[in-house]
Amino acid sequence: MIDLGIIKEAKVALSSAADERAVAELRVKYLGRKGLVTAELKSVGTLAPRERAAAGAAANKASAEIEAAIAEAENRLRLAKLEQSTQDARLDLTAPSDVRIGHLHPVGQLMDEIVRLFWQMGFSVADGPEVETEWYNFEALLVGADHPARDMQDTFYSTTPGLLPRTHTSGVQVRYMETHEPPIRIIAPGKVYRNEDEDNRHLWMFYQVEGLVVDKGISMADLKGTLLAMLKGLLGDDIGLRLRPNFFPYTEPSVEMDATCIICRGKGCRTCSGTGWIELGGAGMVHPQVLRNVGIDPHVYSGFAFGFGPERIALVKYGIDDIRYFWRPDLRFLEQF
Ligand code: DAH
Repeated sequence: MIDLGIIKEAKVALSSAADERAVAELRVKYLGRKGLVTAELKSVGTLAPRERAAAGAAANKASAEIEAAIAEAENRLRLAKLEQSTQDARLDLTAPSDVRIGHLHPVGQLMDEIVRLFWQMGFSVADGPEVETEWYNFEALLVGADHPARDMQDTFYSTTPGLLPRTHTSGVQVRYMETHEPPIRIIAPGKVYRNEDEDNRHLWMFYQVEGLVVDKGISMADLKGTLLAMLKGLLGDDIGLRLRPNFFPYTEPSVEMDATCIICRGKGCRTCSGTGWIELGGAGMVHPQVLRNVGIDPHVYSGFAFGFGPERIALVKYGIDDIRYFWRPDLRFLEQF
């Protein structure tokens, strides 16, 4: 007859089994082929017939109870495991967060502002390739291969003859006029490349915003008014615009445009090299030959064009004395915008 102590002992052991392996070992100990309860069941046949029924029933009951205790232990361990894993994965909503939300680069923000200002004046945005042909970058703008004006810009050349990283956005003017009839009113923002030593006002890659207006009766006054409207929109009403005579082969007359240095309010500082003005870019009346080359009659139409560097405006707008900050991946600088 089975000793009831076995059931008790098995239950105690199972209720404190620390893991699945311990449970498995207990199963073997009691219910395995050579287990204690199994041995009892086997021995029933050796008993005297009148004892068999009771002994068999007791052994079966022991087996069933231990089986139930095993299931209970397994269940307990499974729940504990689940509890532990949800504990491990739980989010602490009170923990300080380290989420950083990005934003547009300061030059990108300024470009957006510039585009919006011109859009308000009725301009559309045109686009051209950054890898440009020598034709559009130079020849179509009347800068022949031997023209001294090629030296005005330090050009990077590529290993593919006839192709180069554009030195300015002016080629977009020609591309646009080839496919559009006047009236034309566009800006063409984009990156340009120059083989230039960097300093606080020069970069080897920078942005330009090209502008082109072609219509009947367009004059220098329209050019000046347009540029001034943009500068005032960006920098405030007290900003000054200065146009100085200059030379570009694709404009006649040609000017260089400067804005009041608002860092020193025109008094002279490091950013403006003591002049009180910041050079923004070039402009002028589109040369009649440039118009003729794209099939626009210069006796009917005239136009102005300009090209300036938005980073230069950013220097003035944000009061920064070194243009190189813009293209350094330094979050301490960029996060301020
Ligand atoms: N392309 C000139 C430069 O990069 C700037 C410029 C001058 C653009 C006169 C023009 C222009 O459209 O008419 O320095």
